[in-house]
Amino acid sequence: MSDFIDPQHFRHVLGHFPTGVVAVTSCDLTGAPVGMTVGSFTSVSLDPPLVAFLPGKQSGTSAKIVRNGRFCVNVLGAHQESASRAFATGGERKFDGLDWTPSPSGMPRLGSAVAWIECVVDAVHDAGDHDIVVGRVTSLDAAGPSLPLVFFQGGYGRFAPLSLAAAGEPDLVEHLRLVDVARPVMEDVAARNQVECLASAAVGAEIVLLATAGTPAGGRIYSRVGQRLPHIPPLGTALVAWSEPATRVWIARAGDAARRHDPRQLVDRVRERGWSVATWSDSLRELESTVDETTVKGLTPHGRRAVRQLVDRLGSEHEPGDLHDPGRNYRVRSMSVPVFDARQQVVMQLTVDGLPPDAGPADIDGYLTHLRSAAQSVSQALPGAGAAAFAAAGRRQA
Ligand SMILES: Cc1cc2nc3c(=O)[nH]c(=O)nc-3n(C[C@H](O)[C@H](O)[C@H](O)COP(=O)(O)O)c2cc1C
Repeated sequence: MSDFIDPQHFRHVLGHFPTGVVAVTSCDLTGAPVGMTVGSFTSVSLDPPLVAFLPGKQSGTSAKIVRNGRFCVNVLGAHQESASRAFATGGERKFDGLDWTPSPSGMPRLGSAVAWIECVVDAVHDAGDHDIVVGRVTSLDAAGPSLPLVFFQGGYGRFAPLSLAAAGEPDLVEHLRLVDVARPVMEDVAARNQVECLASAAVGAEIVLLATAGTPAGGRIYSRVGQRLPHIPPLGTALVAWSEPATRVWIARAGDAARRHDPRQLVDRVRERGWSVATWSDSLRELESTVDETTVKGLTPHGRRAVRQLVDRLGSEHEPGDLHDPGRNYRVRSMSVPVFDARQQVVMQLTVDGLPPDAGPADIDGYLTHLRSAAQSVSQALPGAGAAAFAAAGRRQA
């Protein structure tokens, strides 16, 4: 005999466990799409590839899914709360106004879901007032970089990452090792200053955003991790300013557009003060929204050209000369400091982004103090770092 557990108490306590949210979809006997919101989805086995979800025994939709024998799990993004609500209500009109296409085997696949997993029903196990439906995975894919929808204590939310690192693209393996060292420090900078802290590095001819910590700046509901920008003036000055050969390559990449930026002056300023700054301009805003669009939709050759043209249009917002007048609003957008390795090479930069629009010189000093000490502790923690390297890095950023 089991102890009596009050159902309300059971619900209340179990509500403290956060879940992701999926829409499990299929087709009924007439071919009409059916679906239900599910929080009890889980990965089960890699070999063979199995997943499962737990429908209530009273669920009409679940009976239709099992009868069909195939289903598609749609992992919902933070922007799909209304779809979750629609699939959690009974009735026939769950797909009204929703954008979907058939999966390879004809199951409804929701537009802009974070990921989809198509299955055949492998087994249905009895489990109290629920069933455990096990699905054998037949095809699956992850879509864009959207952050997932989360359900917790009866309410919707979004996954707010402490930090995210770029997935292991082949050219990033070395850099991601460095980023693992930096992540705790970045999380601290983000939390203490209520900003987003980014780590980026020069990889080939691009600047790659390797990791972010803190709530995404600008109200974004997707992650920018993995974004790539052309590494040409005036972008990424702190990544080249301590190396003459790197500076030359960087300037040469810009071609004629380099004349607009006076890249030598940018480099001198950044090396002199030990940090880099960008203030807001219309061109920078346009660049940012175009890059974000390519992040969500994927980078096409057209998108790449548009980004390059927008970078060429940037100008005076980068490395303004003086930021000391307490009466002025400099509209600072971001600040970056270099991270040196044991061989005194700049291996990445740490950036604070999402600064309040009215940040004044005193705030700027505060951010810089935290950023510099973060960069120094990352330098110290890098493999091979000794006291000498730390001292040198400290001198350079002083
Ligand atoms: C966030 C969330 C998670 C849910 N998880 C489950 C679940 O794991 N199993 C289940 O049977 N119902 C779950 N539901 C409820 C079903 O979506 C709901 O009962 C739906 O109406 C079932 O469809 P049907 O009535 O067409 O069978 C969940 C609802 C929400 C909002």
